[in-house]
Amino acid sequence: MSAEATLLLIKPDAARARRIGEILRRLEEAGFKITGLRLRHLSPEEAGRFYAIHEGKPFFAGLVEFISSGPLVAVRLEAEDARRRVREFIGVTDPAQARAGSIRADFGTAVRTNAVHASNPEEDVESELHFFFPPEP
Ligand code: RTP
Ligand code: MG
Repeated sequence: MSAEATLLLIKPDAARARRIGEILRRLEEAGFKITGLRLRHLSPEEAGRFYAIHEGKPFFAGLVEFISSGPLVAVRLEAEDARRRVREFIGVTDPAQARAGSIRADFGTAVRTNAVHASNPEEDVESELHFFFPPEP
């Protein structure tokens, strides 16, 4: 099987808590190769576009406000089976339910402020990657 690319975001809560280095270290230690890295502060409009899939849900407005509340770090990762493996690695959405030792269990503080995002293989991973890492013309 060949390497596959996926997107991870270190969300503004974890960036504010100065966990960027530790999260990148754990990803590398787990065998993920970092092939893209960008620090961005999204506007509310950009955050809404990135999370458009959640438009209309009760948590949408709060999510957009949170994601645009400060700088985040976008990380392009490559590994075999990366899309599935990174989701397992970060733990489930609610940090209180996340596997012990996972990124969300260790650095998330609530369902919204859960430290990281990773593309869902069932959603449009390529367009999430292109949002932060536009293909060269
Ligand atoms: P993500 O997209 O960030 O990797 O997280 P996920 O797939 O585990 O969760 P998803 O259902 O896609 O939700 C996206 C993000 O919205 C926030 N959220 N808040 N009830 C709530 O207040 C609520 N539910 C979800 C979280 O930040 C979640 O990661
Ligand atoms: Mg999701």
